[in-house]
Amino acid sequence: MIIAIDGPSASGKSTVSKLLARRLGIAHLDTGAMYRALALAADWDQLDFTDLPVLKAWLTKVELDIRLTGGKFAVLLSGRDVEPFIRNEEIGKKASQISKLGPVREYLLDMQRMAGTKGDLVADGRDMGTVVFPQAEVKFFLIASDRERAKRRWLELRHLDPSLTLEKVEKELKARDEQDAQRELSPLKPAKDAEILDTTDLSLDQVVQVMNKRIKTK
Ligand code: DC
Repeated sequence: MIIAIDGPSASGKSTVSKLLARRLGIAHLDTGAMYRALALAADWDQLDFTDLPVLKAWLTKVELDIRLTGGKFAVLLSGRDVEPFIRNEEIGKKASQISKLGPVREYLLDMQRMAGTKGDLVADGRDMGTVVFPQAEVKFFLIASDRERAKRRWLELRHLDPSLTLEKVEKELKARDEQDAQRELSPLKPAKDAEILDTTDLSLDQVVQVMNKRIKTK
């Protein structure tokens, strides 16, 4: 069974997906982490990703991989887990820019689909239900108010940058969502058969419970 979970930035997708996968005892793939890892590699290599031929040549060399460890697909760059380096807003913004590009999406698509052939999977991102796993048995699209999403992201990031304000986080989140929703390829949008879940006033546990109930009816 594949459970596809999409939604805008800081809608709770990744945390909820991780908890849900753990509760169901199945694997979790965070596809945002894959785009973030590519953005990090591009940064390290000082890549001008607006130059398409340069980008294509670079993609043939970059060593990005995913490996199932302890119920979660870790994202590796040249064999190294990049999780500690990708959770900041600068990389989030770059990931959003790089994710607009066709060669980048093609590069990751096969790897993402491959993860779905290894067994049951909870996959989260922007286009899980629409493009990567249109056949998924269960699809959710998580939303939450702009202020609530900004609060969640601010709580995650403020220890890295104590000068960060809630207003700045909210402004950046909205700009990123706008970019993700307006792009031509695999834009952020609910699949026709996705259930839309507003998590503004729900705890993580409540969201997981609602999802679990739906999954049991399938
Ligand atoms: O979920 P996230 O914030 O970690 O994702 C970072 C960026 O990656 C997001 O702004 C858009 C892009 N992304 C995408 O285009 N498609 C996905 N399936 C997942 C992420």
